[in-house]
Amino acid sequence: MNLMQTLITKAKANRKRIVLPEGNEERTIIAADRILADGVADIILVGNPQELKNLAKQYQLNHIDKATIIDPLNNEKKEIYTQLLYELRKNKGMMPEEAAELVENPLYLGCLMIKNGDADGEIAGARSTTSNVLRPALQIIKTAPGISVVSGIFLMFTQDTSYGEHGILIFADCAVTPNPTAKELADIAVTTANTTHAIMGIEPRIAMLSFSTKGSAKHESVDKVIEATRLVKEMEPGLQIDGELQADAALVPSVGKSKAPDSMVAGKANVLIFPDLQSGNISYKLVQRLGHAEAIGPILQGMAAPVNDLSRGCSIDDIYKMIAICCNQAIKQVKG
Ligand code: ACO
Repeated sequence: MNLMQTLITKAKANRKRIVLPEGNEERTIIAADRILADGVADIILVGNPQELKNLAKQYQLNHIDKATIIDPLNNEKKEIYTQLLYELRKNKGMMPEEAAELVENPLYLGCLMIKNGDADGEIAGARSTTSNVLRPALQIIKTAPGISVVSGIFLMFTQDTSYGEHGILIFADCAVTPNPTAKELADIAVTTANTTHAIMGIEPRIAMLSFSTKGSAKHESVDKVIEATRLVKEMEPGLQIDGELQADAALVPSVGKSKAPDSMVAGKANVLIFPDLQSGNISYKLVQRLGHAEAIGPILQGMAAPVNDLSRGCSIDDIYKMIAICCNQAIKQVKG
């Protein structure tokens, strides 16, 4: 069984409640119908009930009647969610009127449902920007205990099975933190190792990427990667990690051997930690487009409950897979 099939099977065996704030988005509602047909998760669709009914009819979706429908403008827990949001944000200056308004925003409502125990995870972003999906999640659900920073990984299914884990590589952070400090970069590496191990069932071999390998170049941005690597080794002495490494030294055995002969990771890394969001985001898109890899994500990690963002260019199949992954995160609720 391949990795995605394994994750779908696990999700089916332990049904989780996934809220979809963009319930009236076409790809989202079609993916929801397929998820319900296959019994992968219980689905909560946020949207106007009549509009959702019309869409279900238009696309001949026969399983949407199994979804729970929540109207953002009119639902029985609206007052509870408003009060919850106000309590969570009042010390940040939120007024009751603002809370009452925001609770009608499906992206806030989805997170409040999770916070209130009415859902286990959320997927959104087929229509919304990453920052609009992330902001309510960061404000309401917040980071898991002991985690300083939320980050986003991509599962890269490359065509060359000689790289990574039979062609699978995990890239981080490709989605959230524009310019992490050394400590934040170390936290991203540790959280990614946990996600790789607990969710994907893969033993992580982590390369901390740079334009330098083992002192070949000097720059303050390289120093950050060296310091982050040191911190990870201090935090998690058992992890297989090395840095700073260039991408070729991390991935190609012959290059790894020549540039970093003493490294346990060089030439066989399956987890690539990028020094900042620019390099991580650009790299995953280049590998996806030029290398024809399948890119699943961003899978957000480090939050107290799973909220995942979609690319606005996502397909129905991408949404289906992200729901299955979100279920697995909820099952494990990885600490980081
Ligand atoms: N981890 C944990 N908490 C965070 C993080 C983080 N990385 N970033 C912000 N927060 C918290 C803050 O502490 C704050 O909490 P508080 O209000 O309770 O004190 C809250 O989130 C809001 O923080 P702000 O800095 O005010 O929020 P802002 O909206 O300015 O920025 C955001 C946060 C949305 C994550 C921003 O950094 C961002 O837009 N990042 C880039 C996202 C993006 O565009 N990615 C690329 C596209 S993804 C793709 O291509 C698939």
